[in-house]
Amino acid sequence: MKKLNWMLNPLIIFASIFPLVSLSETLDSDSFKIVPYLIKKNSNQVHLRFKKEGPQKLYFKNNLSSLIEVTTKEDEMTTLSSSIQKCDKPLRLTLNDEKENILYKRTLEPFPCDPQKAFSFAFISDTQKNPEKHNKMAKLLLDRVKDSPINFIINGGDIVQDGSVEEKWTSFLNASVPYSQVFPIVPILGNHDYWGHVGPEDAEASDANFTPKVFNKYLGLESDNKYGYYALDYPQFKLIVLNSNFPKLPEKIIKQQMEWTKKELQKSKEKSQTVIISFHHAPFTSNIFYYGPVAIAFRNKWIPLFEESGVVKLILNGHSHLYERSLKNGIMYVVSGPFGGQKNWLPKMNNYHRLAMHPDKDTFSIVKVTSKSINMESFDQNNQMIDSFSIDL
Ligand SMILES: [Fe+2]
Repeated sequence: MKKLNWMLNPLIIFASIFPLVSLSETLDSDSFKIVPYLIKKNSNQVHLRFKKEGPQKLYFKNNLSSLIEVTTKEDEMTTLSSSIQKCDKPLRLTLNDEKENILYKRTLEPFPCDPQKAFSFAFISDTQKNPEKHNKMAKLLLDRVKDSPINFIINGGDIVQDGSVEEKWTSFLNASVPYSQVFPIVPILGNHDYWGHVGPEDAEASDANFTPKVFNKYLGLESDNKYGYYALDYPQFKLIVLNSNFPKLPEKIIKQQMEWTKKELQKSKEKSQTVIISFHHAPFTSNIFYYGPVAIAFRNKWIPLFEESGVVKLILNGHSHLYERSLKNGIMYVVSGPFGGQKNWLPKMNNYHRLAMHPDKDTFSIVKVTSKSINMESFDQNNQMIDSFSIDL
């Protein structure tokens, strides 16, 4: 591997690269201003995103295709799409330079076709303020999953402290290297990711965009750039990602999102498909955010829909920086602890649906879903398991 050329503390970055050896076969970072990382656009594809260094030509190999020259623009992010991701079939992505040196190579393990076999993913949130802590947690997460690979990592929002500042995103990407080069990120918009965002002047205009520009540059997905909500559909379950930043969205868009959600729930109900939903603002939490307008809107308007559908079994949130698990009317709610953000210091209060709480822990969780059960284990900053549960379906 050639000399590294990074934007953040080189010690952090060197430590980040080290765990890649076993999972990402090759990485030559001299060829990139922003090294390749993976994001999830939809159920069927993974996207590889990077910023190239210098004028050299790059060539992309997608599964068994031949090498294709990549069109890149000077100083702009490049996005490459994988071939269609099918169950039981691995995805192979390779980037070469013009001398046929391999710059990036990765084989993503497939998700099972058989719904009785587990689909695995990780859940983190609030990477936010401290890239060093994020990087330390990232290495713990990678260590935890190295022997049983996951399919993606949900980031529950507040991905950076100030979403309008480019450097916050490049720091985030550098700190995320241990996992973002080997597992795709499923990004969720938090309130900090919206900092500095000014909504469209004309919400009716065809080019009106309701999601933040800098977020879209690094983690935006073509299909959800406009609204920030989307669904990933698998044999084992459906994941619905919502944009809960209601103070930043016109009422019309919130209603549109609700109508879309109703349809997605109905489709799942018709085929008795388990649904997991993730969004940033926790409806059930033991701090003052319980009384926030978004939490209240979810408890009053959205959760009745989720309960009525009968298919929603698990809801994953962030925002509170306080690990907590609650159960209400057959739906389990898990709020992640921070994964880079500061610990919660707000006064605690009673949440009457609470089953578990760990106020002083940074956390990540591993979820395994089959047609019969959902199993979740949560770990702290010492990689000790702090909570686990199983839901029979
Ligand atoms: Fe937040």
